Amino acid sequence: MNARQETGGTVGHMPPQEPRRVVDIIEATALGTVTCDDINELVNAVTDGDADDAQVGAWLMAVKAFGLGGEQAAALCAAMAASGEQLTWEGVTVDKHSTGGVGDATSLVIAPVLACLGLGVPMLSGRSLGHTGGTLDKLEAINGYRCDLSADELRRQLDTVGCFISGATETLAPADARLYQIRDRTATVASLPLIAASIVSKKLAAGAGALVLDVKWGEAAFLPERDDARLLAETMVALCQANNVPAAAALTCMDEPLGQAVGNAAEVHEALGILSGDGDRRMRELCIQLCIEAARLAGLPAAIEQVVGVLDDGTARAKFDEMAHAQGAHLPLDIAAPVATRDVHAAQSGKMRWSALRVAHAGATLGACRADAHSVVDASASIWLHVGDGGHDVRFGDVIATVGGNNEDAVEHASALLADALVESDDTTPAAVDEWVRP
Ligand code: URA
Repeated sequence: MNARQETGGTVGHMPPQEPRRVVDIIEATALGTVTCDDINELVNAVTDGDADDAQVGAWLMAVKAFGLGGEQAAALCAAMAASGEQLTWEGVTVDKHSTGGVGDATSLVIAPVLACLGLGVPMLSGRSLGHTGGTLDKLEAINGYRCDLSADELRRQLDTVGCFISGATETLAPADARLYQIRDRTATVASLPLIAASIVSKKLAAGAGALVLDVKWGEAAFLPERDDARLLAETMVALCQANNVPAAAALTCMDEPLGQAVGNAAEVHEALGILSGDGDRRMRELCIQLCIEAARLAGLPAAIEQVVGVLDDGTARAKFDEMAHAQGAHLPLDIAAPVATRDVHAAQSGKMRWSALRVAHAGATLGACRADAHSVVDASASIWLHVGDGGHDVRFGDVIATVGGNNEDAVEHASALLADALVESDDTTPAAVDEWVRP
């Protein structure tokens, strides 16, 4: 019984509270007096269409200009998550999210590894955005792989295989879809509370029990400054915490591509290499650290030996095949092969490193990602980087990369861009993880 009922219970006779008008919520946001109830009201109005585009744009600008308090940001995130279907899973589940990197196919490794440890991994991923690749585009380089599983199929697969990587449905966090569209048109994308609530609300709606985040900084990251990336990481971890989802975030550098492969088909091959105990040292290390943290958050303080064990003994690779097969892929896996390939030679000698941003632009030319909404993705797009780590000694004429794709002209153009993507640098290879942000 609550206090009001104990004192005679006037609850039933109180006049219903008038919902605040959207225009008042906009003003309260600009004045810093907006309440969590106001935020719920606003998100309902966004979802139902009661707030028009001009009002939503004005509210977004108020948030961008004046910020949101911690409680209000958590309320925004929860209301966005609750604006559509909310998935729930049996057993202990965990998920991983990255803010987007070049050559970052870690999701393809992490989902099966965590499933091998006995955790459920309901991973709903996205397609490429801007110059970074998308997990679903990479997986579709595997012949037959389906990224459009229905809710029933997702549930069955989590029960039987222990993991899936599929696309989110339109019924998940619809408020985010509308807010994001309007942010794009009103210069309000770059707002920490809006970015954090957008990312975390989709993860809450997808129902993961714990979340490990990989927040990129550096020249090819969407937040290049490390301090900004740290703030985003702290904000997202706090939103998860406020919504009872244990979370932690790794800050990782995106000045150089991750691993030695960029492009859909090449990144699948690279992930399979790591799943088989081989592969690029830094990418393997990042996968291992993210897995250990995810397992810890899920209440399974996995020893590093367990994670390394399933990578090195073939168990994780077999789990990936099982997942891919359950999602329609033929076994043995058939990965899109480029029609045209070309070697790229060093144009100068010296200590060099790859510029992640320039490599990404070469990848976009090949169709490894979507430069804009009309771009066509090439499943076979592949860039293999033969010289790797920062401060690498390169001699004029060395073969520094191999480029592949389904279009000769694009391969030639990408090769020219790649020759300029190796830049002079004495820097050493970045660490796999710079720092952890924990609650
Ligand atoms: N990714 C999202 O899902 N939302 C943002 O606002 C930015 C990146």
